[in-house]
Amino acid sequence: MYSQGLDKSKVNSAKLILGIETSCDETGVALYHSERGLLAHRLYSQVAMHDEYGGVVPELASRDHVEKLLPLIRELLAEAQVSLGEINAIAYTAGPGLIGALLVGACTGEALAFALGIDAIPVHHLVGHLFSPMLAEPALRPPFLTLLVSGGHTMLIDVASFSELLVLGETLDDAAGEAFDKTAKILGLGYPGGARLAALACAGRPGHYTFPRPMVDRPGLDFSFSGLKTFALNTWRASDQSEQARADVALAFETAVVDTLRIKIERGLKQTGRRTLIVAGGVGANTRLREALAALGRKLGVAVHFPPLQFCTDNGAMIALAGALELAGSVDRADDRAIHVYPRWPLETRHIRPGIP
Ligand code: KG4
Ligand code: ZN
Repeated sequence: MYSQGLDKSKVNSAKLILGIETSCDETGVALYHSERGLLAHRLYSQVAMHDEYGGVVPELASRDHVEKLLPLIRELLAEAQVSLGEINAIAYTAGPGLIGALLVGACTGEALAFALGIDAIPVHHLVGHLFSPMLAEPALRPPFLTLLVSGGHTMLIDVASFSELLVLGETLDDAAGEAFDKTAKILGLGYPGGARLAALACAGRPGHYTFPRPMVDRPGLDFSFSGLKTFALNTWRASDQSEQARADVALAFETAVVDTLRIKIERGLKQTGRRTLIVAGGVGANTRLREALAALGRKLGVAVHFPPLQFCTDNGAMIALAGALELAGSVDRADDRAIHVYPRWPLETRHIRPGIP
């Protein structure tokens, strides 16, 4: 990671972008340089605060972003030895997400950009996730097929170019991460319990319980995960609720989710003929999923890329990178100095900025 001050004479055409992520329960900031890549990033996670309530409390999330954001930006600049005046643009997550939480990042980003006389770039959170593997592999380029699996989304997206994104399939109910978290809650693992459930599954006995693979017998690329969570609840209630049963349910659930994703991805790869698969979003941190998709890649001769674990979940680096891509591209940017926040913002309409509800 680059840690020296920037020599302005050498970076005339290059751009330095400050990225701000506050869409949910993580305050993330980063500095991305269009030629040198990621210079520095900082993240503050609120998960410990929300754990007590069993889910994200929106008002607490907003207040915490207010407290943490500016100190994090100061730390970031100090670490990278960069002054505010050297920043060329500020990218912030404009949606989708919690409106209050989004507003903190949007107001800060727009106000700073206004004060500095530079561009502010409202970024779609999922676009950030989509291109996050490029943080570690800058040479990676579309076309590729992307599985976006997070706490809020499960989507298969065909990425023909940086600006041509086509959603091929998505969940009809719970997102994969949401199903992980709800099942973890059923098993008494706290919130968000996806990673804890995955750790517990290592002690499970393979084949002790068999869960269904939802929607694999139907054509198409949509998903459904809420039935698996109910299946987990019923299986857990019918068990002796021992530590072994907890691990067995965790493993059966995890295996079913991973298998279902793998089957649909294989279908998507065959349908599109893409030779590169990208896996992004928080559930992309799941080891069993990574192993299954790496094996699928070997079988089909498809290159599989995962973002580094720290960039799978929400972070400022992916927003700074998305801002850099938008700045480099031909996409029209809003230059109205308005505060842009869109709690609901379909990926296909990311260049159409809806009105605030
Ligand atoms: O991308 P992300 O930070 O949130 C959204 O933007 O939605 O992803 C968070 C999700 C949570 O549901 C969390 O439980 C899940 O990713 N997750 C995992 C693992 N690590 C995080 N799920 C399964 N296995 C993991 N190792
Ligand atoms: Zn996310």
